[in-house]
Amino acid sequence: MTVNTPEAPHIRPRRLRQIDAMRRSVAETRLHPADLTLPIFVRESAGDPAAEQDVPIEAMPGVVQHTLDSLRKTVVRAADSGIGGVMLFGVPHTRDAVGSGATDPGGILNVATRIAREEAGDTLVVQTDLCLDEFTDHGHCGVLDAHGNVDNDTTLERYQEMAIAQAEAGSQLLGLSGMMDGQVAAVRKTLDSHGHSGVAILAYSAKYASALYGPFREAVDSQLVGHRRSYQLDPGNRREGLREATIDIAEGADIVMVKPALSYLDVLSDVAAASTVPVWAYQVSGEYSMIEAAAARGWIERERAILESITSITRAGADGILTYWATELATWIREGRTA
Ligand code: PBG
Repeated sequence: MTVNTPEAPHIRPRRLRQIDAMRRSVAETRLHPADLTLPIFVRESAGDPAAEQDVPIEAMPGVVQHTLDSLRKTVVRAADSGIGGVMLFGVPHTRDAVGSGATDPGGILNVATRIAREEAGDTLVVQTDLCLDEFTDHGHCGVLDAHGNVDNDTTLERYQEMAIAQAEAGSQLLGLSGMMDGQVAAVRKTLDSHGHSGVAILAYSAKYASALYGPFREAVDSQLVGHRRSYQLDPGNRREGLREATIDIAEGADIVMVKPALSYLDVLSDVAAASTVPVWAYQVSGEYSMIEAAAARGWIERERAILESITSITRAGADGILTYWATELATWIREGRTA
């Protein structure tokens, strides 16, 4: 290969950066609305459902806990925007030690799922968070043993029951976010033996014990005291992220995920290089709130920062992204805006 001389560079990468049309032609990463999934919080009514209002989430400006009525409108808007799907989270009115609301067909998440399917039909993928933390009074992702530790195998039985309830409510993609060992195999087996072999599994495989879930705790009124380090990954462990994804693929995961996104692009890149199934990333609540907070102060350009974050996650290897900006991003993408 010839190299540039100090007198006259003849290798000039800048040629490709001179005009918009050229930059667009050589762009290596393109965004598409279908790659995006919008997470939606749905709040169980405490009294008269007709009198309920959306509840703003203070730590996530622009995001709310929806009523069933506003859920309908949000799902329709999401479908019209061309995004790929919605991921539903329930915010129950009451909680207990085993998270009974999660398996009750009348529980908020299962009711919301039926409504979302009613509105969306098959125009987008209706997905549900399969985890107990929103429904337990201690806030952990599983049930506790006599010593207060999360009991892996007892939790798997609850996840199996939850999977049936969600599949019966019409969920098309179950988001297994609890980080219990063997959860994918356990849920796959139950779905198949109950006539739900067509329901897919999104495994939150490399899910790190992150401070960036902070705003989400407010979003779901989490009761958690303490931490999730006995089941979520140590932020410093790159190799282990790939190990978890490899195990989940072997157990039958249809899609694997890395979470959070921007702080874990190395893990995402590793998983993307090795995976035989689609790889998604979750741009979590704290990632959303950091950009919104800085933009509200005029410290960064909101739209460009958002587009740059999504572009970076895509560049690192994500085939799909869960992001609270999904619907808004779809509009920008259609208008041809770039980072
Ligand atoms: C577990 C779950 C969490 C998130 C998604 N699913 C919380 C946790 O593991 O602590 C966090 C998402 C976000 O922060 O946006 N049900």
